[in-house]
Amino acid sequence: MIKYLGSKRTLVPLLSSLAAASGAQTALDLFTGTTRVAQAFKRQGLTVSAVDLASYSEAFARTWISLDGAAANQAELTAALADLNSTVGEPGYFTKTFCEDARYFQPQNGAKVDAIRNRIESEYKNSWMYHPLLTSLILAADRVDSTTGLQMAFLKSWASRSFNQLEMRDPGLIAGEGFAYRGDALDLAATLPPTDLAYLDPPYNQHRYFANYHIWETLTRWDHPEVYGIANKRIDVRDPDTKSAFNSKREISASIEKLLTDVRAETLILSYNNESWLSKDDLIAMCEPRGHVAVIEVDFKRYVGAQIGIFNQAGKKVGEPKHQRNLEYVVLVGERKRVEKMVGASKT
Ligand SMILES: C[S@@+](CC[C@H](N)C(=O)[O-])C[C@H]1O[C@@H](n2cnc3c(N)ncnc32)[C@H](O)[C@@H]1O
Repeated sequence: MIKYLGSKRTLVPLLSSLAAASGAQTALDLFTGTTRVAQAFKRQGLTVSAVDLASYSEAFARTWISLDGAAANQAELTAALADLNSTVGEPGYFTKTFCEDARYFQPQNGAKVDAIRNRIESEYKNSWMYHPLLTSLILAADRVDSTTGLQMAFLKSWASRSFNQLEMRDPGLIAGEGFAYRGDALDLAATLPPTDLAYLDPPYNQHRYFANYHIWETLTRWDHPEVYGIANKRIDVRDPDTKSAFNSKREISASIEKLLTDVRAETLILSYNNESWLSKDDLIAMCEPRGHVAVIEVDFKRYVGAQIGIFNQAGKKVGEPKHQRNLEYVVLVGERKRVEKMVGASKT
């Protein structure tokens, strides 16, 4: 899985047990990001719909969620991966932009990315393997990057992992049914088919995923955009169209309220964080009109970038993190008995 701000790796066991206790058979993961929560739900037998604004997240969801791994031709995928791994590197846009003008990856790995990505586009565009291969390439690039996990800056000295050779691996498809959607949760929530359970994990501050993961966006779209600044971000990072209401202090309350009204699910699980603009009490007040509310507080380690330090755009350390731990609020909303059962399950 890629390094991802706000990824719920440590929360997955709790979320899985909450989903099981809720008795849900269908679930919606409305801000799916890496898709790891949607993947866990799918593995436990739920039919899952995964939604996100990001193109790379859609590639992940079309690999792990909407594709039925049991029906896929695994031998064909294995052969395609072996063939692509043997591609001879050829420097192009990716190498120039992200390895020479910036230093996110070593040029020999950038040249591989360029050559492999071109082949995926020309040879697999209409294949069922298109998204699995794209996912595999993004994960391969992530394993040899030279960042702290955000693409707002690259490290001053090469990260030791960046010296490794880029290698695509099998993404590990998952058996079962699911659906993938790319779009704004605020537009989609009211129109998606109803589900038993919805998991909402929106951004909680000004940090924009479109800017923080611009390289994955470009690698997925393969649209060779004009870039700007030391970080070589896509020029459309500046467009109002690429901004999310959840990154705006002014819009966040109304946006969460709208979601809470629109989402068509019997039970909701909402993740929120003590470093966000909304307090726990704000959240509870917003959720109450929808049903019984319970809050589980989880103390977990902060994102690794914040533990390492605060960096400026040139990758220079300019500050120390203020504190190392944060609290995740897992808010449950729904029918009282069911919510109480879920709280009970969280304690075991
Ligand atoms: C906190 S992350 C979710 C992390 C995810 N649960 C995981 O474990 O990987 C928030 C996600 O919301 C997405 N996002 C931001 N604004 C959105 C919007 N308006 N509609 C849908 N997705 C949005 C971002 O692209 C990002 O992937």
